[in-house]
Amino acid sequence: MRIAIGADHGGFNLKEKIVKYLKDNNIEFKDFGTFSLESCHYPQFAKQVAKEVVAGNFDKGILVCGSGIGMSITANRIKGIRAALCWDETTTKLSRQHNNSNLLCLGERVIDNDLAIKMVDLWIKTDFEGERHKIRTDMIED
Ligand code: RB5
Repeated sequence: MRIAIGADHGGFNLKEKIVKYLKDNNIEFKDFGTFSLESCHYPQFAKQVAKEVVAGNFDKGILVCGSGIGMSITANRIKGIRAALCWDETTTKLSRQHNNSNLLCLGERVIDNDLAIKMVDLWIKTDFEGERHKIRTDMIED
């Protein structure tokens, strides 16, 4: 499992906590920034991480901004990306089981950061259920 991760200034602090989680759990990853709280533009990071995932350089991506909304809107413009903006454990699990999400979007300013780490753990460990859900995810790409 190789993960590409990125954030803007609004998601920087949570991104750092997720990076620590990935390191502590020996999960391979590349951090595409941002690397400080200085104001920057979320589409730059969303496009970069999404393109890396679609190119097959990484299995999955994680993007964090203030709300998660800008990241999800941008990432979903990249063909092949199924970016899920999740807000609890249920939506996180379902995004993998039913939607085969390949990119998790989180909003640092709108969810508890400890919950966010639990969500990342769950998202990484939950498999796609396939079958009827595969018919539907294939339809997205048509
Ligand atoms: C930055 O202030 C904020 O707009 C951004 O992090 C994000 O929430 C956009 O969707």
